[in-house]
Amino acid sequence: MPSRVCFVVGARPNFMKAAPVLRALRAADPESDPILVHTGQHYDPEMSGVFLRQLDLPTPDVFLGVGSGTHADQTARALVGVEQVLLEHAPALVVVPGDVNSTLAGALAAVKLGIPVAHLEAGLRSFDPTMPEEHNRRLTDHLSAVLLAHSQSAVDNLAAEGIGGASVHLVGNTMIDSVLEHVEAARAGRPWDAFGVEPGGYGLVTLHRPALVDDPELLRAAVGALVELAGTFPLVFPVHPRTIERLAVAGLTDSLERSNVHLSPPLGYLEFLGLEAEALVVLTDSGGVQEETTALGVPCFTLRDATERPVTIELGTNTLLGLEPERI
Ligand code: UD1
Ligand code: UDP
Repeated sequence: MPSRVCFVVGARPNFMKAAPVLRALRAADPESDPILVHTGQHYDPEMSGVFLRQLDLPTPDVFLGVGSGTHADQTARALVGVEQVLLEHAPALVVVPGDVNSTLAGALAAVKLGIPVAHLEAGLRSFDPTMPEEHNRRLTDHLSAVLLAHSQSAVDNLAAEGIGGASVHLVGNTMIDSVLEHVEAARAGRPWDAFGVEPGGYGLVTLHRPALVDDPELLRAAVGALVELAGTFPLVFPVHPRTIERLAVAGLTDSLERSNVHLSPPLGYLEFLGLEAEALVVLTDSGGVQEETTALGVPCFTLRDATERPVTIELGTNTLLGLEPERI
């Protein structure tokens, strides 16, 4: 039986990073038969199933259904679930993309069973310990035997923590491989028509980081600024489930709905990518969206104090606004 590779995914930004690697592995060795484990950290069809379909990922071999919870609760359930799968299948390598709770759980389960881990998107650092992802990144990198970095700054960050040599590989950005593969199909779908806006004539917004949306005052200030900006050009705002909940609790949904901000549930990959490619401007606190806009040449303004993706500022189209919604 050939040595199998196991991929652990679970949240929206994992799917587009893993898909090109899974496909390349299959192309290189049709017998490779990789195992795809979906933790179920994200579970709504628009946060999960749509990506499996649109990115042509196989149906996961295992779906753990860990769901939402506190960090400890969610990470622990994923840890227990992934361990069971690894005990059963004994893969030769576990690949974990990104920096979400499922990433850390997959890496920790594997390494304790003596299975080497490859971290896809290794070496990113925001140097902001209030970001939950920063702990997931650091810990996953220090657990991994193979570090797949997408930029020189990531390689440098690893070196500064004593991780270097043959285990570190500067391989490029697989999230951008997905963008390049799908952007023409995404544009052809004309997703802007559904919002009654024109290519190049609207702003695209995504906000979901707890530092912003879990703070009612910052969220109120951001909504006020968006409503004001939408007086100049229309905004399309596909709202992350965390943010849907926070807007409702803070009583802010109505003012957005009464404005020229077009709200929608989270969009599928192709719909979002098409809108991103033709936006006049993107306003976000997402990690991946900073990179995608850089690759697409679309101006991006990021509502965060720090970015773990400095290349998007040095070489790209990204501007950090800080966690200061009034700067919108
Ligand atoms: C997670 C990641 C974050 C990533 C984001 C991408 C961690 C620590 N955070 O944040 O790095 O940027 O995903 O989108 O791993 N919910 C639903 N349906 C779903 C999923 C979530 O309604 O399918 C709601 C639940 O109320 C849940 C909340 O969203 O409590 C937050 O979900 P969770 O996965 O805990 O964190 P995210 O904010 O999505
Ligand atoms: N994305 C999407 N639909 C949306 C919003 C984002 O398909 O409504 C995609 C986006 O193109 C990128 C990824 O989701 O590929 C980014 O994920 P997210 O912002 O949730 O997480 P982060 O990158 O901040 O960890």
